[in-house]
Amino acid sequence: MVSSTRLAVVLGLAVLSGSLVQARFVIEQGGLKISFPKAAAKAHPKGFDMSLANFGAPKYGGSLMGKLVYVDADHGHPNTCIPSCNYACQPFSQASPPFKLNPSTNPDRPGQRTNYIMLVDRGPLEDDMAPCKFAEKVWNAQEAGAQGVVVVNYEDKHTTMEAPDDQDEISYRYLRNITIPAAFITKSDGQVLKDLFKKTPGNAQPDDVYVVLDWNDVLPRARKVEWEFWTNSNDMCGAVCDVQKEFIKEFVPVARELEGNWTRFTPHYIVWVCPESYRSSDECQSQCIHNGRYCTPDPDGDLLAGYSGKDIVQENLRQLCVFKLANESGVPWKWWEYSTKFGEQCKMVDNQYNEECAERVFNELEGNTWSSLAKLRACIGDVAADADNALLESEMKRQRGNSDTGEVYILPTIRINDGQYRGKLSYTEVLRAICAGFTRNAEPKACMRVAVDDSCRDGSLGHSTCAARKDGKTKCQNTFSGYECVCGPGFILHVGEGGKEKCLNINECVSTEAADLDPKCTCERCACKDTYGGYECIANIRDDCAHDYAGCWRGDFKVNGKSQTFHACKDNIALYKDAAARGKPLEDIPLHSCTCPPCFTEYMNNGKMECVPKCDLATCDAATGICSGGFGGSGGLHSWAVVLIVFACLGVVGGAGFVAYRLRLRSAMHQEIRAIMAQYMPLESQEGVNGELAMPRSPATNGAVPHTDV
Ligand SMILES: *[C@@H]1O[C@H](CO)[C@@H](O)[C@H](O)[C@H]1NC(C)=O
Ligand SMILES: *[C@@H]1O[C@H](CO)[C@@H](O)[C@H](O)[C@H]1NC(C)=O
Ligand SMILES: *[C@@H]1O[C@H](CO)[C@@H](O)[C@H](O)[C@H]1NC(C)=O
Repeated sequence: MVSSTRLAVVLGLAVLSGSLVQARFVIEQGGLKISFPKAAAKAHPKGFDMSLANFGAPKYGGSLMGKLVYVDADHGHPNTCIPSCNYACQPFSQASPPFKLNPSTNPDRPGQRTNYIMLVDRGPLEDDMAPCKFAEKVWNAQEAGAQGVVVVNYEDKHTTMEAPDDQDEISYRYLRNITIPAAFITKSDGQVLKDLFKKTPGNAQPDDVYVVLDWNDVLPRARKVEWEFWTNSNDMCGAVCDVQKEFIKEFVPVARELEGNWTRFTPHYIVWVCPESYRSSDECQSQCIHNGRYCTPDPDGDLLAGYSGKDIVQENLRQLCVFKLANESGVPWKWWEYSTKFGEQCKMVDNQYNEECAERVFNELEGNTWSSLAKLRACIGDVAADADNALLESEMKRQRGNSDTGEVYILPTIRINDGQYRGKLSYTEVLRAICAGFTRNAEPKACMRVAVDDSCRDGSLGHSTCAARKDGKTKCQNTFSGYECVCGPGFILHVGEGGKEKCLNINECVSTEAADLDPKCTCERCACKDTYGGYECIANIRDDCAHDYAGCWRGDFKVNGKSQTFHACKDNIALYKDAAARGKPLEDIPLHSCTCPPCFTEYMNNGKMECVPKCDLATCDAATGICSGGFGGSGGLHSWAVVLIVFACLGVVGGAGFVAYRLRLRSAMHQEIRAIMAQYMPLESQEGVNGELAMPRSPATNGAVPHTDV
């Protein structure tokens, strides 16, 4: 984009004067396929080659499917433009009637926008009409609502659609605003597409035509992407220079992120040469270093005023050295920082484009412990020397390229894995292209920021494939080059033996802080139920005991002279909550059970459970049921504790002896209970043999003692 015409009289690009080889030009191509109508897709299974434009936003590593539109009177669009609308040389808003593509919704995929790809013709070629620029056509199509443009050539040849050069300030301004991709196809391929719109006999309305533009395999792929950026330290080239500066600045953080493990980047600078016979001329002395060997055209075109080409080659060489030193120290991204700072602080307009400013910037680089000014100066060497400079020689060699890579002849140029990048110089587009240079599905994370298509939207293959997974990887996650299925929400990845992956259910009820759970799960009479892949809240859990103790035993007792109600209804909410949290079935868990309170002993009265105090309730701890002090000795529990300890110690004591001991103890207990009951309970049914109290069967005796009840 830097014009080499101004001083072409003297200077030549290294590539032209350096060899007799004809300038090679490699055209980068992607693929265009018809996806609908089906018959047409079948007739052209391989699709067509499309050449990438050198501007706009190609979707490297991705594809774009859209409805093809051709604004032409013979193809259903009776709008009038000058020249005809199919050339797209006039804003479509000025057509008569104005033409606008509406992002209508696709009836097959609700909520999804239809992409439009506009087919336009190159030209016009008629003598009385100047053909308009490619970028102008693309701009007009974008303004009319297209998401992509396909330009049809007027002959059966391919070419790269170039951006207008920097002298055309007007088109350069909208050039930066082009956000859609543009492709170029041959005349005959274009004709195939146009024919699809033709009405066929008996078919009044031709089918809609859908095509896919594919940029997946434009660039070679590699595990580690090597890429180069051909630039220039000149900052007096208007919009072109501004764009380069802006790009470098934006790219600093991502360069740092990718450099080393993922990418290997090298900056390059185009070198011009002065023919041998002119080396001593004023032109060459002013524009070159190393006695005419390495040159750059004068930035302002005036050899006598302002900065000269020499200043620029010298700074280019310094920047090459900054990279060399940084790269040797394992911090190649420092070049990005240096270039950004130099561009900001050492401007030609401020009269600061000089060695002093450059060295100050170099010294001020953050954490510059990796190199010194002395090293930098040594790398640059004597620029007046009449000798070759190794760094610049290798630049010129690289610039010439080889039969695969082609030459570099415009600035800026980016090559990725030795393939030429086409598209505008912007962070998003370049990063996307770099990402498309990685082995498929091995792209670094940074690439997700520029992923093109959403392979996970509703109804997509990714969405349905993941949804059907049995291992829990039901969530579709977009990747740079497609999608992957990952553990869905509520699951966590578990890597088992042999690296076998499985998604395990997360128990939210247990692992989530109560405050983060739905309050409907955490209230007093609520439960959190773990489910596969989530959790449910069970609210308003019934309190059975609130309704007449659910029919369980109840009794009024005087404790320390005060009447108190005791009951056997036990609320099972805690048990219920616990089972829910463990995801266990809840049907078998009763919400209450009839269990005597701690200070009571259970007995069956006519098949009905009833409770009786163990001891004087005033001496019984209501929480633990331990009786202490009071009359009648130290309650049963103490005796039992002793028994248990004795039993534990005398584990070898014969069973019979022990049973005898137990029996004796129990009879003592009966006496005790009877005494208590007689004192505290209105014993209505004091009927019994020998005036004995109808003794309830103590649960502890468990039938081992002969019954005395009726
Ligand atoms: C391009 O975009 C910029 C900012 O987004 C805007 O100010 C400018 O007017 C646009 N240029 C054209 C030609 O639309
Ligand atoms: C590169 O990878 C190594 C090991 O895999 C890691 O320790 C290092 O942090 C990575 N470097 C960057 C810049 O990501
Ligand atoms: C940068 O450093 C790497 C690794 O040290 C080396 O392989 C590469 O050739 C260097 N690049 C340049 C341009 O010196």
